[in-house]
Amino acid sequence: MSVSWALPFDEKVLAGGGVRSQAADEYLKEHRVTLQKGAAFWESVASELDWFEKWHAALDSSNPPFHKWFVGGKLNASYLCVDRQLALGRADKPAIVWEGEMWAPGLPSESRVLTYGELSREVNRAAKLLRDVYGIARGDTVGFYLPMIPEFPILMLAAARIGAKFTVVFSGFSAESLAERLEDAGARLLVTADGGMRRGAVIPLKETADKAVAAAPSVRSVIVVRRTGLQVPMKPGRDAFYEDVMSQIPDDAVVDPARMSSEDPLFILHTSGTTGRPKGQVHDTGGYLTLLHATMKWVFDISERDMYWCTADIGWITGHSYVVFGPLLEGATTLMYEGALDFPQPDKWASVIERHGVSVLYTSPTAIRSFMKNGEAWVAKHRTSSVRIMHSVGEPINPEAFRWMHRLVGRSSVPFGSTWWMTETGGIMISVLPGGTMVAMKPGSNGFPIPGVDIEVVDDSGRRSEALQRGLLVIRRPWPGMPLTIHNDPGRYKEVYWSRFPGFFYAGDYAVRDEDGYIWVLGRADEVIKVAGHRLGTYELESALVQHPAVAEAAVVGVPDEVRGEVPVGFVILKTGVERSESLKEALIRLVREKVGPVASLKDVIFVSRLPKTRSAKIMRRVVRAVLVGKPVGDISTIEDEASVEEVRGAYLELQQEVSSRKAGDQEDNGGSPPT
Ligand code: WTA
Repeated sequence: MSVSWALPFDEKVLAGGGVRSQAADEYLKEHRVTLQKGAAFWESVASELDWFEKWHAALDSSNPPFHKWFVGGKLNASYLCVDRQLALGRADKPAIVWEGEMWAPGLPSESRVLTYGELSREVNRAAKLLRDVYGIARGDTVGFYLPMIPEFPILMLAAARIGAKFTVVFSGFSAESLAERLEDAGARLLVTADGGMRRGAVIPLKETADKAVAAAPSVRSVIVVRRTGLQVPMKPGRDAFYEDVMSQIPDDAVVDPARMSSEDPLFILHTSGTTGRPKGQVHDTGGYLTLLHATMKWVFDISERDMYWCTADIGWITGHSYVVFGPLLEGATTLMYEGALDFPQPDKWASVIERHGVSVLYTSPTAIRSFMKNGEAWVAKHRTSSVRIMHSVGEPINPEAFRWMHRLVGRSSVPFGSTWWMTETGGIMISVLPGGTMVAMKPGSNGFPIPGVDIEVVDDSGRRSEALQRGLLVIRRPWPGMPLTIHNDPGRYKEVYWSRFPGFFYAGDYAVRDEDGYIWVLGRADEVIKVAGHRLGTYELESALVQHPAVAEAAVVGVPDEVRGEVPVGFVILKTGVERSESLKEALIRLVREKVGPVASLKDVIFVSRLPKTRSAKIMRRVVRAVLVGKPVGDISTIEDEASVEEVRGAYLELQQEVSSRKAGDQEDNGGSPPT
């Protein structure tokens, strides 16, 4: 495997530097062949899975954009992740290694190991519980609001086993956000925990779940997993502890895996955007698992010998695909770490790598930047040379963070990429491929579209952009793992993703292709904010702000942050006669946390008397953002009131001065989740 270095994506490269790489040309040639093969290429990948029945059509595109993959094929996700692994002789091999947050040198280890045999037993028992005790049937929906504990994947697999779909809500979301998502998905049952551990404190998940369920009439029962021992009120007839109801289920319970159609939904996961309610992305079974199988091999070069650690929370797509289904599908060991990567000491993450012998590491730029901030002495304390492949995900990685991690953990030699994908794509779409033709790495770049995936950077008219010109990222043909639709709203699915460039999937990201064909995703072209890699829509945050009686109007924009990539800041116009005050500011920040969840903590609120708007009174967040990052605001002839730009600029500068004069050392709050 040849891994060489090329220029980072700095101004020099943009100006036309570039280093031609032999492997890149070779890769692009191979890639073209996979595209020429079309759906047949993906058939060869899919046939490496173990189907109950083979498909009769690889791709049904009769009703675009609602494409269906492997139509007629029958399979089951739980069968593939569990039963098949037993059949391959992996019963005694660790499937899940879990480590709790509280471990520190000198303390007893807080760890659980589940072999594939034990996983199979627990998944079968949980499936029996769902089906026979709770009456969950094929096609029903089960909601999960859980911390990172082994019961989480067990229950996801159990739902999949009986043909129920699941919908996960990240544990940093509020009761209101949880209720909205559960209702939208039509969840009948909610599984939560008595609490989750976060930086040594207990997050009262059950309390939040109770409020949510009161507002989500579809939910009739609640199962509570004991994790923290926190005393929680239990509603008779509705709530039960997992261990109590599971004690009725024999150890040798067997539930046959349901024969699911390839295009049956496996799960619904909500993403939020700039307008409207969160969109429930519906993922299928056959296409999704095929993409995971392919990417686990190509991107992670996975084998059953690997100790594989993806640091994401299962509450997000990365956790669904690459903590749970991807690694288990391949018979690897998936390491689940419960809490903050730097708690109780900044070297927790490096000590996890050392103690468990992690060989493949999948993490995020935010996590890496927080490690950097703590200093390299913490890394040097640990042996991390077991790591043979690393990747990052969730946001663009700055070359400094890339180089730091590559030098310290990657010994300046292991393959390391920045994998681009999104909730909608189901799995990785752009990456360098240590398990395939490995190209030279360029720090900060994403690499190339994976085989069989047709990604392009296009200009406003949908034509391939010139090299080094900023354009928009599109996927030009269906791929396995694509959404089936937006739950309850197929029209919106069509409108949001398939209407801007008819026939192409519009990803909503800005990107550049350099002269060697490498893709560099630059960030969102819409007003979606990535906070520590977590995807937040401005809409929900703004809706929360305007619910306050003092607020007339609000705009939320992402401003650059050294560690977390971006953080949301609220610009607020108060109602006439309302006084600006620190306490009002705090109340507004609190309100957003309450309404949307700790994950959506505003970094600040800035009071202004006007905001840049178009003549049709639409707030121009793009202009606000440009002002904040000190970029030219571009054409402002459509702005109704140009003075508003100056006011935003002034208010922001004032805030920055205030911040720099404040005492340093504010404790970062990750909003109830590890930096993922
Ligand atoms: C961003 C996360 C640059 C991008 C899997 C995308 C990235 C959004 C990268 C999706 C990367 C993800 N480089 N940007 N390697 N990976 N993004 O749905 O803006 O939470 O549109 O899925 O994250 O976020 P989501």
